[in-house]
Amino acid sequence: MDRDRLLRELNEFLRIPSVSTLPAHDDDCRAAAEWVAAELRRLGCSDVEFLGSEKHPVVWGVGPDVPGAPTLLLYGHYDVQPPDPLKEWTTPPFEPAVRDGRLYARGAADDKGQVFCLLKAVEANDRPPVNFRFLIEGEEEFGSKVLFDLLKREPHRSKADVALVADMSYVAPGWPAVYSTLRGLCYAEITVRTAKSDLHSGEYGGAAPNAHEELARLLGRLKGEDGRVNVPGFYGPVKRPSKAELAAWKKLPFKEKDFLVKRVQAKGLTGLKKYSVLERLWALPTFEIHGILGGFTGQGAKTVIPAEATAKVSLRLVPNQKLKHVQQQVAAAVKRFAPKYVTATVKFLHGADPAQIKLDHPSFKLLDQAFREVVGRGTLPARAGGSIPVVPALGATGAPVILTGIGLPDDRLHAPDEKLDLKQLWDGIEDRGVQTVLRTTGAWGVGRSVAPTPHVLPSEFLTRVPKLIDLVLGQAPATVALLGPRVPAHVVAVLLPKAGDVFVEQLEAAHPLRALP
Ligand code: BES
Ligand code: MN
Ligand code: MN
Repeated sequence: MDRDRLLRELNEFLRIPSVSTLPAHDDDCRAAAEWVAAELRRLGCSDVEFLGSEKHPVVWGVGPDVPGAPTLLLYGHYDVQPPDPLKEWTTPPFEPAVRDGRLYARGAADDKGQVFCLLKAVEANDRPPVNFRFLIEGEEEFGSKVLFDLLKREPHRSKADVALVADMSYVAPGWPAVYSTLRGLCYAEITVRTAKSDLHSGEYGGAAPNAHEELARLLGRLKGEDGRVNVPGFYGPVKRPSKAELAAWKKLPFKEKDFLVKRVQAKGLTGLKKYSVLERLWALPTFEIHGILGGFTGQGAKTVIPAEATAKVSLRLVPNQKLKHVQQQVAAAVKRFAPKYVTATVKFLHGADPAQIKLDHPSFKLLDQAFREVVGRGTLPARAGGSIPVVPALGATGAPVILTGIGLPDDRLHAPDEKLDLKQLWDGIEDRGVQTVLRTTGAWGVGRSVAPTPHVLPSEFLTRVPKLIDLVLGQAPATVALLGPRVPAHVVAVLLPKAGDVFVEQLEAAHPLRALP
């Protein structure tokens, strides 16, 4: 594998400033969509289309047809978050630079680098026994409305045996992960109006209301110093993780002290102190202020009482909370907490319900096995603090949604000096990391009858490779034996390349597989 070429190609992708939330970058988002589409065509996708929007389209691709094989939906996003504050980047965000084995650029880890990893892993793995579908969107960082609408209109686009979302990270270097929850999000602008227009602070100061002051007090009422969100009803549906899950988190390679010193790089942590940091990050909802607008913020000094101020805020939601309810709760709380002489309004920009995924489908075993082969360690079950709005909709057809990825926790997503460790990328592509994952995903359709044509498997196969069968079918070998020799074609399609490494020569010589008429 030519790493120089790959790096050149990824850099090309990263140089496109596809910031979905800023209209000034609409053309760049289109260019990034074109870049993805060209890659999909190069992979041999028969049907590459822009769907859903004139603005930031969803790039859709259908991989080469493998009759009888299961369908794997690969999801990712080509849009990125705004790169500001620019002066805090060591090198400019859209001029990718390698330092110390790390590739620095906006989108390096979130999510262009990971989309790239998937595409190149498929390319490196010729004709995997899988029917690939690609949904690579361009509005993930702005709420995914276009993809929601598309899936509502055309639900078949997400029809698959398994969906794979590679937009996450390991829990620590050397520790790959699979995630059982994502937090949801409720993004809002809270605006406070106190007078018809701005006023001279000498003429009016002392008697006229000040919008910034009122906004500051309102925000202070919405969230207390102790970290509690004081929106009435907000914590109602929140459930604590089970004792077993909390105990498992204690064993994760995560130290609160390191988190403070190495990752947050602050002087102290905040939030609800009676819960562990992981519980605060993964299982509790939040309220954050992202920016405050209004009044005078130019150079120099101006003495004015601002008449209007706006805060951009968001609340992260955890399983059982519902975006719709939280929006109602926030609107009611703002109304209740603002004094009578203030006009306070809330505008909801976008949002997402939380996602919860059962990790019991056989595909998760395969993912674990694949990472074990490549990294030397299987996947740790974890939860994620971040949000990927479309995940609940991707799983609506009943297919398991596999949340995993090749990032590392210190990639600084959305922040200055975002990076991707190149070793993670090469592991993913070259050392059969994601490649193996993709290959083994061939079996993820097991249990759903995708293929009508059964094959005859030699009984020897069933008795001599019980471990392999256990791995692929996720069932005890005894149960498999009961299935008898008639095994669905898509299982065979997967067993063959997997078995190929170990047994295929002997097996095929002795008992060539025969398709039944
Ligand atoms: N890849 C992230 C989500 C993520 C981050 C998952 C960290 C797990 C760990 C995604 O691109 C993201 O940033 N999503 C936004 C969604 C929002 C803008 C609707 C987020 O979480 O803020
Ligand atoms: Mn992302
Ligand atoms: Mn992101």
